[in-house]
Amino acid sequence: MEALLQQIEKYKQEITDVKATTAEAVEAFRIQWLGTKGLLKNIMGEMKNVPNEHKRAFGQVLNDFKLFVEAKFEELQQSNSTEKSEEKAFDWSLPGSSVPVGTRHPLTIVRNQIVSIFKTLGFAIAEGPEIEDDWHNFGAMNLPEDHPARDMQDTFYINQNPAWLLRTHTSSVQARVLETQKPPIRVICPGRVYRNETISARAHCFFHQIEGLYIDENVSFADLKQTLYFFVQEMFGKGVQVRFRPSYFPFTEPSAEMDISCLICDSKGCNVCKHTGWVEILGSGMVHPKVLENFGIDSTKYTGFAFGMGVERICQLKYQVNDLRLYSQNDVRFLKQFTGAV
Ligand code: DAH
Repeated sequence: MEALLQQIEKYKQEITDVKATTAEAVEAFRIQWLGTKGLLKNIMGEMKNVPNEHKRAFGQVLNDFKLFVEAKFEELQQSNSTEKSEEKAFDWSLPGSSVPVGTRHPLTIVRNQIVSIFKTLGFAIAEGPEIEDDWHNFGAMNLPEDHPARDMQDTFYINQNPAWLLRTHTSSVQARVLETQKPPIRVICPGRVYRNETISARAHCFFHQIEGLYIDENVSFADLKQTLYFFVQEMFGKGVQVRFRPSYFPFTEPSAEMDISCLICDSKGCNVCKHTGWVEILGSGMVHPKVLENFGIDSTKYTGFAFGMGVERICQLKYQVNDLRLYSQNDVRFLKQFTGAV
C-alpha cells in the first residue's frame, strides 16, 4: 500500500513534467495514461489487493489521481489547439520587421569620393604600413635626424623597438612606392596617421590623410595646380575658389599650401575659416630632388609633384562636422545621419 502511494506520487511528478508540442504527442500521452491498456487502468486494478479497511482512503487517492491525469490531458490538448489557431490566424502577407543595417562612416564616404576622383585621372592606389621605421617616415623624405621640421610632427614610438614608430603622415607611402616602382608613377595613398596630440575638438592622436604622388618627365607646377583645381571642383562644386600660399616642407621644393573658399560661411567669415574666408585643405609641392635621388631616380630627367590632405578636414567642410572627436566616438545618432551616401 505504502509502495503504491509512493508510485502514484512519482507518476504525478512525471506527468507534471510532460510537454507535448504536437497533436501526436498529446495522443501518445492519452494512450499511455488514459487508454484501455493505460497506466491509470493498471493502478485501478491494484484496488483488489488493498485490504478492506484501506479501500475507502485508497479509492479517494485513486480518484484524485485520475482527475489529475485528465486535467493534464485537457491542458495539453488546449495548449496545442491554441498554437494551431494562432498559426492559422497569422497573416503571412504582413510586411516583415526591418533589420537595421549599418551605414558607412562619414570618413569612409569622403575617402571613397576623393579616391574615385583621382582614379578618373589615372591615379592608382598604394598603401603602406601604419607601424613604420624612421627611414620611411622621416629620413627618406628628407627629414634627417635633428631636422627642426620633425618638431611639427610629435611622434609615438614603440616600446619593444624604438626604431619603430606610428607613421605621422602618409608621405611615408611615397617612400614605399619609390623603392618598388619606377617612373612614370601616379598614385594616391589613403591611410591613418598618428601624432602625439592632446585630444580636443580640433586635434586627435590619430587622423586620416590622402597622399598623392606623380612622377614623370616634364611634370611641372602647372600640372600640380591643374590637378588639384580639378579635384576641388569635382569634390565641392564649380563655384569654389582656390588659392596657393608658399610654404615649407622638407620633401618638396617649392612647396605650397592650398586653401579653398570657405563653404561654411560662403567666405563671409566664421570660426572654421578664422574669419579669413579661406580654409587650408592640403600641403603640396614639387618633389625634392633629394627624395628622388634617395631612390636612385635621375632628378635631371624626372620631376614630380606631391600633395597630402586631411580627410577629416574635407569631411568637416562637406558635412559641417565641427568636432573631430565625433568621428571616433561611435555614437549611432551621429553616424546614422550619413545614410544614403556611397
Ligand atoms: N606630410 C605633410 C603633413 O602631414 C603633408 C604634405 C605636404 C604632403 C606636402 C605632401 C606634400 O606630399 O607635398 O603635414
